[in-house]
Amino acid sequence: MSEADRFYNFSAGPAVLPLPVLKKAQEELLCLTGAGASVMEISHRSKSFELIIEGAETNIRTLLNVPDNYHVLFLQGGALLQFAMIPMNLLNGKPANYVISGTWSKKAFSEAKLVGNVQSVWDGSNFSYKRKPSAGELKFETDAAYAYVCSNETIEGIQYQEYPNTNELPLICDSSSDFFSRPVDVEKFGLLYACAQKNIGPAGVTVVIIRDDLLERSSNKIPSLLNYKKIADAKSMLNTPPCFAIYMVKLVTEWLLRDIGGLGNMYEINQEKAALLYEAIDSSNGFYKGHADKEFRSIMNVPFRLPSEELDKKFQNEAMRAGLTSLGGHRSVGGLRASIYNAMPREGVVKLCGFMADFAQKNKS
Ligand SMILES: Cc1ncc(COP(=O)(O)O)c(C=O)c1O
Repeated sequence: MSEADRFYNFSAGPAVLPLPVLKKAQEELLCLTGAGASVMEISHRSKSFELIIEGAETNIRTLLNVPDNYHVLFLQGGALLQFAMIPMNLLNGKPANYVISGTWSKKAFSEAKLVGNVQSVWDGSNFSYKRKPSAGELKFETDAAYAYVCSNETIEGIQYQEYPNTNELPLICDSSSDFFSRPVDVEKFGLLYACAQKNIGPAGVTVVIIRDDLLERSSNKIPSLLNYKKIADAKSMLNTPPCFAIYMVKLVTEWLLRDIGGLGNMYEINQEKAALLYEAIDSSNGFYKGHADKEFRSIMNVPFRLPSEELDKKFQNEAMRAGLTSLGGHRSVGGLRASIYNAMPREGVVKLCGFMADFAQKNKS
């Protein structure tokens, strides 16, 4: 199988990776330069791997302009483990305030409830998770340990354009599905995290960016591998890290820096791709219906529906035959969803838009 056999893959995650990254990994798969073996076969304590993990961290710091008083950690357990680690490390007997804007923040809230005293300060279920809250709708408790948001709800396709102002309260943000999609001001956050398998690399590693003062909250009673402070002290190598996934993060971040030219450029590219797709929906005279309210539309995940479930299925099947794959909506909500992460080429979106116009033409009653 070769490059020509690849489909345009709209999966929400694990998701499409940049072609130059896959090629570089392929080139180095048998033997990493100077290591005499592949990255999967060398010690994580070796000089060769040290250069990889340090390189990945340096690239992340450059891309996001991470201030010196933040640590960058590489963890395992996916974003879901962060739902537990965040309250375990940061609550310290205090309450915490959660903004529930969709399926993933709801899940984070229910996991945190297993750990401590957390409250929901806003719940978008009354609006079918079609929008994020406005600043006026949010009131945080000043004595809370932190405020929690999800930057981009992957299932509902809604994204913050502006993050809430929490004043002194550390803002914790799940950015799993829009990390690296646009520049962000890391200083706004106490902790910003993302699983890799959408915009950062393959599944198996989670990136956590945490402000140094918050590390001091981790109690010694927390088991080591769940303890941010101990992991930070061990430079993310308390035990064997996911070496291959971290290597891929290094390649993806190199691609973002060298080929794309940074997150400002990436954002422009992403905005243009998203605009093309939303235009295909909006110009269909109601044949395609998007989920999110317009001003909260995600530039990463675009859920939409056709006039019937039967047509949803037909669309998916025909799209697959046209080389456009993984367009099914999340199993919890159905419908369709096109995830257009950083690595989805513009041509893939253009092809999808063309297919949509054609399909609507043929199937309009
Ligand atoms: C916003 C968001 N948070 C959390 C998760 C859970 O990630 P993981 O499967 O790495 O635990 C996902 C997965 O799709 C997600 O989209």
